[in-house]
Amino acid sequence: MRYNSLLYFTQYLLAISFNTMESGALAISPAEYSATVSDSTTQKPPAVTAATADPVCTWDGTQVFDDTTWTPVASYAYNNYTGPVVGPNLIDQDIMLMVNGMTVEEKVGQMTQIQVGQIIDCNGKLNTTAVEYWIDTMKVGSFLETPANHGGKYNWYSAKRFAEITDAVQAIALRRGSRIPVIWGLDSVRGANYIKGGTIFPAGIATAATFNPQHAYDAGRIAAKDTRAAGVHWAFAPIMDLSVNKLWSRVYENFGEDPFLSSLMAKSSIGGHQGDYKRDRSRVAACLKHFIGYGYPFDGSDRANRHIATHELLEYYVPPFKAAIDAGSATAMESYGAVNSESVVLSKYYLQTLLREQLKFKGMLVTDWAEINTQATMYHTAKDVKQATQTALQRTSIDMSMVADDESFIKVTVELVKSGAVSERRLDESVARILQLKKDLGLFESPYADPQLASTVGSAQDIEAARNTVRESITLLKNTNGVLPLKLSERVLFLGPTLNSTRYMSGGWNVHWQGPSDKEGDAVYQGFGDTVLQGIKAVTGAAPQYLPGIDIGGTGTIDVDAIMSAAQSADKIVIGLGENTYAEEQGNIDSLALPWQQLNLVYTVAAATKKPVVVVLIEGRPRGLANVPKIADAIVNAYLPGAYGGLPIAEVLYGKVNPSGRLPITYPATEAQASSTIWQASYSAYNPQWEFGYGLGYSNVTYSNVTLSSSSLTVGSPITASVTITNKGPYPQKESVLLFTRQQYRLGYAPEHYRLRDFTKVDLAVGETKTVVLNLKAEDLAFWDRDLLRRIEPAPVNVVINPHVHKGLVAVVQLDADPDHVLERAPWS
Ligand code: BGC
Ligand code: BGC
Repeated sequence: MRYNSLLYFTQYLLAISFNTMESGALAISPAEYSATVSDSTTQKPPAVTAATADPVCTWDGTQVFDDTTWTPVASYAYNNYTGPVVGPNLIDQDIMLMVNGMTVEEKVGQMTQIQVGQIIDCNGKLNTTAVEYWIDTMKVGSFLETPANHGGKYNWYSAKRFAEITDAVQAIALRRGSRIPVIWGLDSVRGANYIKGGTIFPAGIATAATFNPQHAYDAGRIAAKDTRAAGVHWAFAPIMDLSVNKLWSRVYENFGEDPFLSSLMAKSSIGGHQGDYKRDRSRVAACLKHFIGYGYPFDGSDRANRHIATHELLEYYVPPFKAAIDAGSATAMESYGAVNSESVVLSKYYLQTLLREQLKFKGMLVTDWAEINTQATMYHTAKDVKQATQTALQRTSIDMSMVADDESFIKVTVELVKSGAVSERRLDESVARILQLKKDLGLFESPYADPQLASTVGSAQDIEAARNTVRESITLLKNTNGVLPLKLSERVLFLGPTLNSTRYMSGGWNVHWQGPSDKEGDAVYQGFGDTVLQGIKAVTGAAPQYLPGIDIGGTGTIDVDAIMSAAQSADKIVIGLGENTYAEEQGNIDSLALPWQQLNLVYTVAAATKKPVVVVLIEGRPRGLANVPKIADAIVNAYLPGAYGGLPIAEVLYGKVNPSGRLPITYPATEAQASSTIWQASYSAYNPQWEFGYGLGYSNVTYSNVTLSSSSLTVGSPITASVTITNKGPYPQKESVLLFTRQQYRLGYAPEHYRLRDFTKVDLAVGETKTVVLNLKAEDLAFWDRDLLRRIEPAPVNVVINPHVHKGLVAVVQLDADPDHVLERAPWS
């Protein structure tokens, strides 16, 4: 027990009775909030800025810079918790007692999450009257989001400014309403991307490309600390949907398309975010999301219905969530819309049978944004909010409604309980999980932000960690005639808008939800981050020769004459292509192809100059490249490396870093391949532009001698596969070694093209030879059949190492199993 629960409980009872006495009393003044009141906390309440009596807004809505400055410490110490998994478990006795003492209104309030725009004034200050309304009258127990996305005056809130808001809300929460600290949730999905100066990591897709889960851990750990510095305790991360339909605007957020790779990344990310979160106050609660099947919208449009047979859902989409649950994720978020036309938020099968019973998730479950309230209006899956709320509460185990903007959930739920339509015990179950989470996060004893943490935001140590992730993620897709790396002695002309922009490198989930707008440009970063051109200057010591060449959206004409005259003296030309941020709905596309004008820039320059052309891709999803892969001499995919991507990209171009990223997704060659994956049925051709797992290095690594420890594979007897790899090239190389299986046949069920079963990443010095050992079990080859039984069909299985880079050395193992032996069985709803 981390605090004196009996003492707390007594105070809680006192608080409840004061609360009752106080109801109907006038709102107390902000000064009173900051007076030291006896509560259970060991922290002193902060001073609360007085609410401005300025209801008339003179502010025109243009966001301004948060001018807070600080000098981040260069480095700091932290604990890397390596003990057993810490995750949500049973509800403590004192929490049960607390729940028993609460009114229905208080319980419903705890289950409600309101977005920060509801409590921020148009002048950017906290509206304490609004806070009192939500906390005292509506008794809400949770807030979310950054004011920068919702009418806040500043475009990016420093940890200090953010903490002033969260602390002030906390001070009010401890003295009004239910007198329970609020839990604040924030989308810190790639570092604390919403905190000014918080170190921004590459997007999930790039983190996955490292094939090194340590990077997901580092990103999570640093995100947690910077988030906590703002007085926020809960990150809506990691995101582990499988990026199946590549048209989808949210492809970049996830760890690629593969269940195994995503599982390891998700697990590591949860370790980083949470660590020993019940003790370590620099960690946050993680949130596995979005449960479930979000990544295969049938037409690529966000939230669209997903047609995924349940046995395929269990086979491919569920494993990363299972890994995240087993890694102790404290919370989960359900996913927007429907799977097989069944609304997820109203589904007993998805949120009760599968999540709680089969996967044994014990943590707190939140809806996605306004999911219950929009069932009637958006999805037509309920008559009205009342029916949707009643159904969600009765059928599912939803604990908190991210209502976001209104009282509907509160009013309707109170009514439903009072009329007996929903039992109060149903609320108790959820409220207990919520309060337990608050207790685990230390909110009862330390509800306020720890000012010490703010000085570590933007630490050089963190920026180096982010850059290291980028260094290992960049994926070399083509390199003919050793055109890369560039030499310092060569004259290089750089073209393309993505090379001169921090925000294009970041994409979404930074500064704002879909990234900075065109109007904000790069200025919004206020010096946090760099561009590729700045990175090149740092590497070469000279300002690069640069022309934008074309606008990111593909408008404007190519000034061929200007490019030709600049190119005359160049030895090589590097062209940056890619995507704008997704602000203003730009993420919604109906074709994978990049704007043709961008592609045309490559064609025109290559044809007109006849010089070697290097293409750098900065994009959140694999955009269509038409003839570029044929025309360009070298192609480098940097995905969305984030604000600190400029230097690592330059280092890769100039050979200071040898690329070692591998594609965590299939890169389609045609529009028809938009939903191709490495695990599609093997009887369909898999001929993408570049295969999952593809990626070159500058060195020449050779593979030989695949040896299996046994020629047969049976349940309970894992085997190993070893392979000899030698670095015969001139550079040290980090090498990812990927083991895939392909079952030669499978009675009644088409086997997959390849399934990734194990991987590792090793350092090879020049000339060095290593033997790499990878693992395989018969259980890996088990599959879910249409009766929702997990079982094995015997057959010979090809064990293949790095098929797409090294033509794949194959060894065959005989998979022996009784097809009637059931390894796992899914409960029916
Ligand atoms: C979206 C959320 C987003 C929020 C931030 C909402 O409309 O649904 O996903 O986080 O806006 O602006
Ligand atoms: C997104 C979630 C996010 C939530 C809160 C939703 O629109 O789908 O990923 O956590 O908003 O911002």
